Order: sequence, then structure tokens, then C-alpha cells
Amino acid sequence: MKRICVMGSGYVGLVSGACLADFGNAVVCVDIDEPRIARLRGGEVPIYEPGLGELMERNRERGRLSFSSDVAFAIKSSDIVFICVGTPSLPSGEVDMSYVHAAARSIGQYMEDYKIVVNKSTVPVGTGDEVGALIVEVRPDADIDVVSNPEFLREGSAIDDFMHPSRVVIGASSRRALEAIIDVYRPLYQSDVPMVLTDVQSAEMIKYASNAMLATKISFINEIANICEAFGADVTAVARGMGLDERIGPRNLYAGAGYGGSCFPKDVQGLAATARQAGVDAPLLQTIDPSNVRQRRHMIEKLRDLIGDFDQQSVCLLGLSFKPDTDDLREAPAMEMVDVLLREGATVRAYDPVAMDQARAQFPDLVCFDDPYSAAAGADVLVLMTEWNEFRNMDLPRIQSALGSPRLLDCRNVYDPREMAELGFDYVSVGRPRRSPGDTVETAADWILPGRFHACRVTQRVR
Ligand SMILES: NC(=O)c1ccc[n+]([C@@H]2O[C@H](COP(=O)([O-])OP(=O)(O)OC[C@H]3O[C@@H](n4cnc5c(N)ncnc54)[C@H](O)[C@@H]3O)[C@@H](O)[C@H]2O)c1
Repeated sequence: MKRICVMGSGYVGLVSGACLADFGNAVVCVDIDEPRIARLRGGEVPIYEPGLGELMERNRERGRLSFSSDVAFAIKSSDIVFICVGTPSLPSGEVDMSYVHAAARSIGQYMEDYKIVVNKSTVPVGTGDEVGALIVEVRPDADIDVVSNPEFLREGSAIDDFMHPSRVVIGASSRRALEAIIDVYRPLYQSDVPMVLTDVQSAEMIKYASNAMLATKISFINEIANICEAFGADVTAVARGMGLDERIGPRNLYAGAGYGGSCFPKDVQGLAATARQAGVDAPLLQTIDPSNVRQRRHMIEKLRDLIGDFDQQSVCLLGLSFKPDTDDLREAPAMEMVDVLLREGATVRAYDPVAMDQARAQFPDLVCFDDPYSAAAGADVLVLMTEWNEFRNMDLPRIQSALGSPRLLDCRNVYDPREMAELGFDYVSVGRPRRSPGDTVETAADWILPGRFHACRVTQRVR
């Protein structure tokens, strides 16, 4: 059993802390946000993450997981300190390293014996050395090793991602630290999880390069979708046709309103800024974020094309969080949509399964409802912003009759265009032809005998 201190009790800190405790370690999660720690000590879970509450409860009961704002005590009494603090973007796009630096200084201030310091926060290449230097600046005789162990969990499936990761990456500059961190993850590699053991700088780059690649795939298919719109092609068929090539793969090839959240936008900007600072020409990386911003604005313009000026219009938004199964609104495309609609005089009626309180805190004029049908009642248009599962299973005829005008902008390509036209919707989606009530459109799938050539079905989604 290892004694672990997790600095930062946000998404990554809480999930990592609870999972590391579940591996049998003694974990204390600390945070400078004292009210948050008070809530955690009272048994509350301050974020929405499926399964996290139960995992925390189980490990607290077994005495393996605790929460504290006594950073000094938590550092002194641990063998390993995981830094899981935020690394947001500065207005310049560079990474704001102030939280990581403050955490490093606290470690220097309070440590008394050998510590392994693990950077789990997403940090620019070179941060490992920087953290080591800051600790030594505060405590010149510090006996430390700094390890990079980037985190790949996704909000909404964070526990499963941590417990069944695609890989564990550990970058270390000493054998004793590498062995200790491999040992922390022993329960995982017993189940054959691949381990990437490397130097600190390469581990730091793996995280940024992975997020930039995933963001690139999304922006790439969004740009393809926009070309499809100009020619009447169907981007879902295009993505399927591309994704069956194993070198491309089907995942992250869903056209939509652009990516959001606390990672892709800032990490893509952070990597581009790192390249600029190092004097490295990286034109591809510099264009990913602007492409994503354009895609969000493209959704707003599609809505304008569908309903005209926003002034005095009543718009129903379904889904506010940046993706399903999270209450995280950071960089959520829906937030930009709400902002523009309210500023241009529309009334915004919204429903989201978990993110409405946070959204109302940002936009007090947002009118929130307990279910999608009440939100849709009398609205001039419905905009689907986030593909929560409950929207996939909605009673669409009921929505159609609830709307004042049966127009629907589907920013996530959740519905079948032909079915929507049959149901009487004026239906606009992303990278697929617009369908109007009563449209009957035959496709290749209609011209073949049922059951034969089933591979021709173009609407099938591969997850
Ligand atoms: N959220 C994700 O899905 C995700 C996934 C992988 C990696 N990451 C990375 O992990 C890091 C943390 O992200 P997050 O989403 O958990 O952030 P978060 O904002 O949810 O949580 C960060 C927490 O750190 C606390 N904190 C700040 N300075 C501190 C200090 N000196 N000592 C103790 N606590 C301190 C803050 O009060 C906050 O509660 C970031 O670098 C992020 O890029 C995030």
C-alpha cells in the first residue's frame, strides 16, 4: 500500500484519487478550494460523473480515501504526490502554468523526505524539469524524482477509462521512480493494459500529440461536412466509407458543432503555442483551433438560415454540456449559441439532464424546463446541441406537435433525415441535405433487396 497525496480535487484529481484508493492505496485528495473540500468531507460529490459517488463512498468507508485542505500535512505524510491541478489557457493561447508552479512550490515547502512527484495535469513539454527546479529552489536539499504520467480519461466515462485505459504512459528519469509508479498501476497491467515507459519529455508530448490528433479528426470531418453541404453529399456515408480504412478508423469522425470541454480547445492551443515559442514552424497545428471556432459559428449561421433574424424568436435548445454524461460547460458549443441568441433578442428555452443550474449561473435569462417536451412547447425552432441518449429516444411526433413551428436543427446528426421529413419536420443537420416535410427521397439502400448487400446501409454508426 502506497501513501498518495493528490493535489487538485477536480475531475482528474477526484477520479484518479478514488481509483488509486480502489487499487488499495491510502489516498488523500487536497485542494486550495476549501468549500469544495468541506463538501467532499460531507459526502457530497461536487461534479457529475457516473459511478464516482459510489466509488468514493466505498473507499471512504474502507478508510483508504480522505479529503483535506491541510496541504502541509498531506504532503508530509505521503510517498507520492500526484499533481492534478488545472492548466487553463491564457488569452494568448499559452498554458497558464501558475497552478502547477504553486503546487510545486508547496511540495518544496512542506516535504521532509524523499518524494516522487507525478505530473498528471496536462503540461507542456519541459514541465517536468521546471517542476523539479521549482521544488529545489524552495528546498535546495530536496530528494525528489519528477515523473510524467498523463491522464487520458474522458469525462462521462472517466472511471471506466481510468480502470480500463487504452494505455498507461509513464515518463521517468530515474529507475526508482519508474519502478514505484509501475507498481502503483500493477492492478491494471495484470489485466494486460499496454504500458508506454519512456522519458519525461516524450510522455508530456504523447498527451498533447494525442489530443491534437483527436481534435484534428473532428475538425477534418467538420470541414468535409461543410463541403458535403455545398454538393448535396451525406457526410455520414463519407465518414463510414473513410472509417472502414483501418489506417483511418471510424472513431472521432462525427461531424457536428465542433469540440468543446476543458481539454481539446486548450491543449490544441497550448501545443501550437509551445511550437511557436520554440520557433518550430507547425502550420497544421496552428489551424485546428480556428477551424473549430468556425464550425461553432457555422451552426449559428445554419440556424439563421433556417429561421431568419433571431430577434423575438423563441428557440428551444436541447443539451447544454459540451458532450453527453457530463455537466461540464467549459467551451461548450451550446454556450456560444445561447450567448448569441440572447444578445440578438431571442428567448432561449433549454433542457439538459444535468447542466442547467451551471448554465443559468452564466446566463440568468436562460429559461430552463424539466423535460424536452415542455422546453419545446410553442418554440419557433428546436436545436439539438448535445447528443444525450435520452434525446435519441425522444417521442418525436410529440416534439413535432409541441413546437410552434416544426423546424429542427440537429447539430449532432442524431436523427434520420428521411424519417424527420416523414414526421413533418423541416430538418437541417450537419453535412447532410436539408429535408422538408413530406420529402420522399430514395437512396441506394432502397434499390437493393432487403437483407442483401446490408453493407450498403449508410446510416449505421460505428462507435
Ligand atoms: N477534465 C478532463 O477530462 C481531463 C482529462 C485528462 C487530463 N486533464 C488535465 O488534468 C488537469 C486537471 O483538469 P481538471 O479538469 O481536473 O481541472 P479542474 O479545474 O476540474 O480541477 C483542478 C482543481 O485543482 C485545484 N487546485 C488549483 N491549484 C491547486 C493547488 N496549488 N493545490 C491544490 N489544489 C489546487 C483547483 O481548486 C481545482 O479544484 C488539467 O491539466 C487537464 O488538462 C483533464
